Amino acid sequence: MTAPFLDINGLTKDFGGLRAINHVTFAMGRQEMVGLIGPNGAGKTTLVRLICGILKPDKGKVSFKGRNITGLKTWDVVNRGIAATFQNMRPFRRLPIIANVMVSCLSPRAMKRGEWVKRVEAKAMDALEFAGISDMALEKASTLSQGDLKRLEVARAVATEPELLILDEPFGGLSPAETDLMAKSIQRLHKGGRFGRLHSEGPAMIIIEHKLQQLMKIVDRIIVLNFGTVIADGTPEEVVKNPEVIEAYLGEGGA
Ligand SMILES: Nc1ncnc2c1ncn2[C@@H]1O[C@H](COP(=O)(O)OP(=O)(O)O)[C@@H](O)[C@H]1O
Ligand SMILES: [Mg+2]
Repeated sequence: MTAPFLDINGLTKDFGGLRAINHVTFAMGRQEMVGLIGPNGAGKTTLVRLICGILKPDKGKVSFKGRNITGLKTWDVVNRGIAATFQNMRPFRRLPIIANVMVSCLSPRAMKRGEWVKRVEAKAMDALEFAGISDMALEKASTLSQGDLKRLEVARAVATEPELLILDEPFGGLSPAETDLMAKSIQRLHKGGRFGRLHSEGPAMIIIEHKLQQLMKIVDRIIVLNFGTVIADGTPEEVVKNPEVIEAYLGEGGA
């Protein structure tokens, strides 16, 4: 039996007396696009931070392509092929937008995959074009709107040419039209192909999102967290009919 692409087993994280992640266990395959949902404070962002090595779990294990990556440093996780965007965007504000993405292109992983420094700028530009903000490439990152910052996050992640891409609320702060565009970009990326000098193998994806309508259109599986615990894991149709899921959302105020 071959090891699952991503295998999360018994992952647990406490903040003081608060159990933010409680024995979370699931596996996903190389071709999957998985939605991760749950009420505010359910532990979604904490789970991403545990996978990426920003936080260390108290218990449990994360394996990626058959290797134990639990507790590795973030740079090491990125070089193994996992990239993430975050709900709270933290670009290098005083650097131009394109320089923010060039940093990702200089990761050993991205450099090993063909291109050398003189082509880094062109490659960064392809990532910005993919994310839809190439026209602003030379402006300071501090000038960006929330929606455009989100795009910059996506460009920075995509520039590392990941095999697993984790997006924390990619539609957050976007207008309905911008949300549609972002959803299309995500689907295009998942399918894979060449985007200028960028080669996308079509990364597996975990997408955290509050806008369930839009999320359900692009994923075929949804995992639901509540109080740090997985309460449902199935197709979007199964999950929205699940009484425990309905209860968790109604408890939050009828979402
Ligand atoms: N660094 C931290 N220190 C203490 N508590 C935290 C920290 N990060 C998150 N939490 C708490 O952990 C729980 C899960 O938070 P989070 O993962 O951000 O939820 P979500 O992304 O699902 O809204 C919340 O109760 C939150 O207040
Ligand atoms: Mg969050």
